[in-house]
Amino acid sequence: MGHFLRVGDLDTEELVALGLSMKRDPGRWADSLAGRSVALFFEKPSTRTRISTEVAAAELGMHPVVIGNESVGLGSRETPADVIRVMGRYVDLVALRVFSHASLETMRRHTAVPLVNLLSDIAHPCQAIADLMTIAERRPLEGAHVAYVGDGNNVCVSLAHGLAQTGGRITVACPKGFEPPATEVEALGDAIEIVHDAHEAVDGADAVYTDVWTSMGQEEEAEERREAFEGFQVDAPLFAAAGDGAIFLHCLPAHRGEEVTSEVMEHPRSMVFDQAENRLHSVKAVLHTLLA
Ligand code: CP
Ligand code: NVA
Repeated sequence: MGHFLRVGDLDTEELVALGLSMKRDPGRWADSLAGRSVALFFEKPSTRTRISTEVAAAELGMHPVVIGNESVGLGSRETPADVIRVMGRYVDLVALRVFSHASLETMRRHTAVPLVNLLSDIAHPCQAIADLMTIAERRPLEGAHVAYVGDGNNVCVSLAHGLAQTGGRITVACPKGFEPPATEVEALGDAIEIVHDAHEAVDGADAVYTDVWTSMGQEEEAEERREAFEGFQVDAPLFAAAGDGAIFLHCLPAHRGEEVTSEVMEHPRSMVFDQAENRLHSVKAVLHTLLA
């Protein structure tokens, strides 16, 4: 049985292709998973992931049950192992947003139903499929070069693996100490380059990507991070340095005035809302691949 906890757990190229087909012709898959149920669990806030996954499930004919941690009390009211053993008795698939990826690994060992990672501290695989779809709508993924300016976080790591698995590459520009984890960089080999100068990263890139400097769960570090990331804001001059063909991407939510300016968010080549829409089509592809 498959899970989708990290990019590469399912075939990345196939997910992107299926997501694009589902976007073009949604009716073809309507109700294709009728009679199935899915639990969507959120240990931290969400707008895009929560709505897109619930709507995706409904459009495929599934019954989605959304539950927050105020009800579940993961690790306090009940252990992650017991929670998943119970959920697996009710539904056909469990999709979860958690603080610690270790919770997902524990649950994987205790469940008979597929699990989908809706964001953990180290990975955001559903986001990466939507990101790749957004690029693929504009140019072939083979040879695509993304400049990621900002924190070497969950979004950055999943995107990097997605690009590596589809023939692209990433240049990450971040302050010293905010690189993606060394094990990930090692696994990515030639597909990743780390630099500490934002202008060096964007030169000739097909897409400039950024994410928040302070991820959910790191709120206490916000002030320190704002100082550390000075010089890594995607503003109009930096985006212009990428060239006339580059698009701007951000997983959202954006902190306008921190990692990106409003001018870049609203730029004609900013694709952030297409990218957000693609969360719907891409998660349908994930659900369908795991259950059909
Ligand atoms: N990009 C993303 O995952 O957004 P939400 O946190 O709003 O779900
Ligand atoms: N890196 C961010 C992404 C939010 C979608 C976080 O983990 O909070």
